[in-house]
Amino acid sequence: MDEKGLKKAIAALRSNDDRLVTVQNAEWYSLFREEIRNSIAIEGVFANRQELIDVLEHNSKTNKEKAAAILGYFEAASTIYEYAYNQWREGEFCLRMADVKQIHTILMRYERELGTYIGEIGDFRKTTAEVTQSKFKPIDHFYVREAVDLMVRWTNRHLKLSKYSPVTLAALTHTWFETIHPFRDGNGRAGRILLNYILIGSGHLNIAIKGFSKLDRDLYYNALEQGDDCFEEINRRLEKGKKLSLEQAEGIITDVPLTGLKKIVLERLAESVKRMKNGTTRSMNKDAVVPLRDLAQLYDYSQDYLRNLINRGELKAQKKGKLWYVKVQDMAEHISSVDQKAWQVKK
Ligand SMILES: Nc1ncnc2c1ncn2[C@@H]1O[C@H](COP(=O)(O)OP(=O)(O)OP(=O)(O)O)[C@@H](O)[C@H]1O
Ligand SMILES: [Mg+2]
Repeated sequence: MDEKGLKKAIAALRSNDDRLVTVQNAEWYSLFREEIRNSIAIEGVFANRQELIDVLEHNSKTNKEKAAAILGYFEAASTIYEYAYNQWREGEFCLRMADVKQIHTILMRYERELGTYIGEIGDFRKTTAEVTQSKFKPIDHFYVREAVDLMVRWTNRHLKLSKYSPVTLAALTHTWFETIHPFRDGNGRAGRILLNYILIGSGHLNIAIKGFSKLDRDLYYNALEQGDDCFEEINRRLEKGKKLSLEQAEGIITDVPLTGLKKIVLERLAESVKRMKNGTTRSMNKDAVVPLRDLAQLYDYSQDYLRNLINRGELKAQKKGKLWYVKVQDMAEHISSVDQKAWQVKK
């Protein structure tokens, strides 16, 4: 599904449940937990599903470092995502310097308390930074503030224009943020929260960039490497003491090769939508009999395809007047039999 299709599917979900992005929504909370596990895994902290639940719901501190990483991410992301969602609903979404700092302030609070993070929370770094396994050079610390300020203003300008789709804009801002690397630690996680902040604030859902296998992490790192040249160029110009106007920055940020990162974001967004849809249908009354067109939209099938299944006797349905109706339970059974077959083929 392309980006427009995904946005439509999200709008359909919202017509069912107004409060989509909130931990009160069981399906969203489960998606969010997957995001946390993957995002901290990219930084080398591996937690299984049970460990995450133990920390979040049973206050477990068996492994203090893991608990600090999980709690920081949970609190930073959940508050800022709900905030982005509310801004979107009010038509007021924008990005502020203070938002970038706020993400970091909450993200690193527990690690700061524990002493595993010794920098200031919410304050830009005062020393140089480098990222192992990558070729780019983050900006000299004297120019961090100026660089973030430019990134924030450029992003806001593009939130108002339609030059870039929300997915492209989120990918660009994420790459820019990482190339600056404004904080002493936590840049990877803060940057992925920022990416989701932009997605949610533009009417999308948050995503979980995969991070458990080395293959997935390499894919993500390579995608950033592919698109960071122009942001490095901005870094180098600022380091020479050159003031850059928005227009000049605009002139540098052209034809950015971001196919890798956009592909990742779109794939993961499709996965987020799928999860939320499955949750919505799971919570529907299984005995309910609903019009075919509603089921088609919910499950992302064409009505013709479903009509074909009915004609072949593979999906039970009844006709009332001119419309076909299907029992939710029957549709769910069909889907699970299709999934089963796909699984057998893969094996
Ligand atoms: N070539 C690249 N260009 C831009 N950003 C990159 C590149 N390669 C990796 N990154 C980003 O850098 C992050 C890792 O950097 P680093 O290990 O310094 O993060 P950090 O500040 O310790 O953050 P955290 O504590 O969240 O890991 C990655 O998660 C990725 O987002
Ligand atoms: Mg780190």
